[in-house]
Amino acid sequence: MEELRAKYLQQISEAADEIALEELRVRALGKKGEVTQQMRQLGAMSPDERRSFGPALNKLKDELATALAAKKIALSDAALDARLKGEWLDVTLPSRARRIGTVHPVSQVTEEVTAIFAEMGFTVEQGPRIETEWYNFDALNIPDHHPARAEMDTFYLCRENDDQPLRVLRTHTSPVQIRAMEKIGAPLRIICPGGVYRADYDHTHTPMFHQVEGLALDTDISMANLKWVLIEFTKAFFEVESVDLRFRASHFPFTEPSAEVDIRCSWDDGKLKLGEGDDWLEILGCGMVHPKVIAAGGIDPEVYQGFAFGVGIDRIAMLKYGMPDLRAFFEGDVRWLRHFGFAPLDVPTIHGGLSR
Ligand code: PHE
Repeated sequence: MEELRAKYLQQISEAADEIALEELRVRALGKKGEVTQQMRQLGAMSPDERRSFGPALNKLKDELATALAAKKIALSDAALDARLKGEWLDVTLPSRARRIGTVHPVSQVTEEVTAIFAEMGFTVEQGPRIETEWYNFDALNIPDHHPARAEMDTFYLCRENDDQPLRVLRTHTSPVQIRAMEKIGAPLRIICPGGVYRADYDHTHTPMFHQVEGLALDTDISMANLKWVLIEFTKAFFEVESVDLRFRASHFPFTEPSAEVDIRCSWDDGKLKLGEGDDWLEILGCGMVHPKVIAAGGIDPEVYQGFAFGVGIDRIAMLKYGMPDLRAFFEGDVRWLRHFGFAPLDVPTIHGGLSR
């Protein structure tokens, strides 16, 4: 009995799979199994023999049955583990490739412009879209009753009483010039991209649009630096070797002298094309910062001078990507966004390519 017990316990512990285990069970405890055979012989024994063999045999039978059951569970657990390992599947993966939306051309172009100016050492500043009259007008040398205030088609915010400062939706990004001077002092080299507002509406004007302001102040800055920066910027932005720009003498209260810059283009068949044709599209205003503006920013205009510019982001986006109507930019038509939008993970850089 002891031999049977040792043999079967050993074989059970070594059984490789459930089939081998079942064979063992049949061989030990099946109808013709070795232990069963022993049980049968009990009948031929004397009562005394039976009394000592019977319980011992029963105990052996129970012991083997328990060992078989335990091994069976262990084997099926191991089999399940192996199957789970083999059938591994990432259920979080999407079953179908899915578009997660596109980057709006205004965001794309803002990134492109930022990448170009970053390369020239300009950092990015921001200012609020709701501005006080002081920042939007007065500090920029546009006093009360100056015609420029009316020209800008300003949206004014309601006031509860006359003691509150008058607030406007900023009509340009130029107020950030003042905020940047207050925050950084001189010398300084910043750009500020952002939304601006004017009551105006046609295919190149929307009541909300975007500009990028630029401001550089130092002790030795001239109009020549301004021109170079703008020409380099325009070539980099449009990704061309040369551009046809027209610096037109103009007037802004906050710069002296001032210029507006137009770029040569054509409007054939409602398609806007760059660098050819007899049309000019105004893309920016610029000039040497007026001494009064530098003083309003808390900087000594006897020591520092500089240039400023304001580029229409939407305008240059239309030109670069051939979008004829600015109004479509802000209508939120998903078909337009799919068509003109950009892949979400392509961040524009000078070296990696602006608009791949
Ligand atoms: N703020 C001007 C505009 O909105 C543009 C500009 C900016 C002109 C800076 C000169 C210098 O039209």
